[in-house]
Amino acid sequence: MDRPFTVLGLPLVSKRHPVSSRFAPRGVSPHGLTAQTQQALDAMIAAARKAGVTVVVRSGYRSYSTQAGILQSKIREYGDEALARRYNAAPGRSEHQTGLAVDLYDGVTWGLAVRNTKTGRWLWANAPAYGFILRYPPGKEAITGYAYEPWHFRYLGVALSRAFAPNTSQTLEEYLRVR
Ligand code: DAL
Ligand code: ZN
Repeated sequence: MDRPFTVLGLPLVSKRHPVSSRFAPRGVSPHGLTAQTQQALDAMIAAARKAGVTVVVRSGYRSYSTQAGILQSKIREYGDEALARRYNAAPGRSEHQTGLAVDLYDGVTWGLAVRNTKTGRWLWANAPAYGFILRYPPGKEAITGYAYEPWHFRYLGVALSRAFAPNTSQTLEEYLRVR
């Protein structure tokens, strides 16, 4: 697929809904995100800073070939392909290829420990007010295809992301009633 599967105009890229190597968003500097995603991210980072919280971008847009390299290196690093695939998408199956996803942390602590950092807690509570949702919440691997990632946020725009705010554990698939 040269273009992502969409529901209600929202691109959905996942293990079930891949895109081809030819698909790339028109991204903006410095992270290759879509312009709207970057704008919302700037607003969120500024609000966090006002609250004394540091938010650092670890990863934004990733091309098909970059994603292929990441998965291969994680399989080698973990020595466990099944485990690597719980956290790392195959090329064409990463939301990072859409320019709508971003990995965020405090610049220091990485991995599952992100959830218990000040930054991780602030993002969990506040991201939906800025247009972002936690895309891979805990306990939803059977639905999203990926293990809990307290760092991975997906831009949806505030009109939709606010609908997620009362229940941070809801997945995009559940909200859109698709798999
Ligand atoms: N870590 C997410 C699932 C990705 O590789 O796109
Ligand atoms: Zn990510």
